[in-house]
Amino acid sequence: MTKKVAILMGSHSDWKIMEHSAVTLDKLGVEWEARALSAHRAPKLLAEYVEQAEDNGFAVIIAGAGLAAALPGTAAALTSLPVLGVPLASAAFGGADAMLSIAQMPAGVPVGTLGVGRHGAVNAALLAAAILALSDDGARAALKAHREAQTAEAVRNSDVAG
Ligand code: RP5
Repeated sequence: MTKKVAILMGSHSDWKIMEHSAVTLDKLGVEWEARALSAHRAPKLLAEYVEQAEDNGFAVIIAGAGLAAALPGTAAALTSLPVLGVPLASAAFGGADAMLSIAQMPAGVPVGTLGVGRHGAVNAALLAAAILALSDDGARAALKAHREAQTAEAVRNSDVAG
């Protein structure tokens, strides 16, 4: 059975950024499901979802959150699936708050932390696909094709002026 990626976020307001994970997974033909499950506002719902994630066919969890950003660490505490955290920007600190919160997990429960915002959301999807690709030929081929297309595009656009 082809494994899926769960895209979790702390709030519906995070979707405008986390949607970039979904769009990237779509480009690679990787199946995903997205849920807004706040670690603070709906902890029991989050626990239920994450504890069942492996049995429900998920291989990787992407978790985006802003401000105190407890979601990725909480999800990681509830599963042994790889959790990729995406820090989201806040008005007060521009995402540095969430980035430190997500990256600074105490030893024992890791969260793979990506960059802040859209770049992190895209890269989380690419990294999730790379994890799937370890045991999924389709994901491996899609990633390779994606890289090649990206390089071809960069070469086409290499002229800046003159
Ligand atoms: C975090 O608080 C969410 O991940 C979101 O980035 C932030 C603000 O949430 P809302 O007040 O927009 O629901 O938990």
